[in-house]
Amino acid sequence: KSLIVAPCTALLLMLAPLAVEAAEPIVIKFAHVVGDDTPKGKGALLFQKLVHERLAGEVKVEVYPNSSLVGDAEEMQALLDNKVQMLAPSLSKFTEFSPKLEVFDLPFLFDDEAAVARFQKRETSRELLRSMATRGIYGLAYWNNGLKQLSASQPLRNPDDAAGLAFRIQPSPVLEAQFTAVDAKPVRLPFADVAKAMQSGAVQGTEGPWSNIRGQNAGVKQSYVTETNHGVLNYMLVTNSKFWTGIPFAVRSELDNIILEVTQTVNAEAAAINQRERERLLASGSTTLVTLTPEERQAWRERMQPVWKTFEAQIGADVMRAALTVNR
Ligand code: LMR
Repeated sequence: KSLIVAPCTALLLMLAPLAVEAAEPIVIKFAHVVGDDTPKGKGALLFQKLVHERLAGEVKVEVYPNSSLVGDAEEMQALLDNKVQMLAPSLSKFTEFSPKLEVFDLPFLFDDEAAVARFQKRETSRELLRSMATRGIYGLAYWNNGLKQLSASQPLRNPDDAAGLAFRIQPSPVLEAQFTAVDAKPVRLPFADVAKAMQSGAVQGTEGPWSNIRGQNAGVKQSYVTETNHGVLNYMLVTNSKFWTGIPFAVRSELDNIILEVTQTVNAEAAAINQRERERLLASGSTTLVTLTPEERQAWRERMQPVWKTFEAQIGADVMRAALTVNR
């Protein structure tokens, strides 16, 4: 009898460490630079909740908001080094990896958010999700935030009002050209540094959707927001290709399903969140709204639109054409 038991015991002992190893959940560190109460912040938390419900014990998601683990200047390198496994940088932060994505930064290209949403569903955009695969970055989905407004320490009504002012920008050559086109001075800064730069007067303006302007203008006593809707700030949910393909197929399929569900929720709710933040900010009394007449908005458009031509070759005429066809 003992002759039979002994090999079984030996086998169990050999398997034991393996069993322990297999029980360790896969950890996904999801870092981002905005608050929990923004479209992206809520999306990250919903992703975490659904993963913990449906893949309990198999996958653990850790969410790090407000640049608490990595800021936007280091986050892509952290992803490539597999120090974080998920990010959702704004589409303005991928130039180095995929210049075609600059199409999303072109000022006044999309008529409204619905047009951007249509573009994100087109084949061209699906291909752009894969455009960084050779660099080790895998695009999972587009997450919406919203259209950008101009915020400054003084009212901006005409493009000439921006002349000489320093504007914080995300690291994008298109955004650089956009502010240069109105004789302003673009200054690249990580998101986490914007509030301080606005408070100290190091920059006098920023751009962003309402949900971000609230964070950017924190602590600023008086600011003016011009509702220009001149561009878009949406995100690409990305992961490290090697990490992602290393996840067992069944688990990865469930993660894909969850991402689809979260993406639908984020994209359905982003506009309402921005509307709510707009109302909150205006009700706080710290911000004065500047509303443009159609003629005034047209003047901004005419000054900024030449930027399209400058970047056409880099983005690709085909991508630009595809983007333009979504306006109705
Ligand atoms: C910014 O840097 O202004 C944005 O990309 C921040 C964000 O993630 O919304």
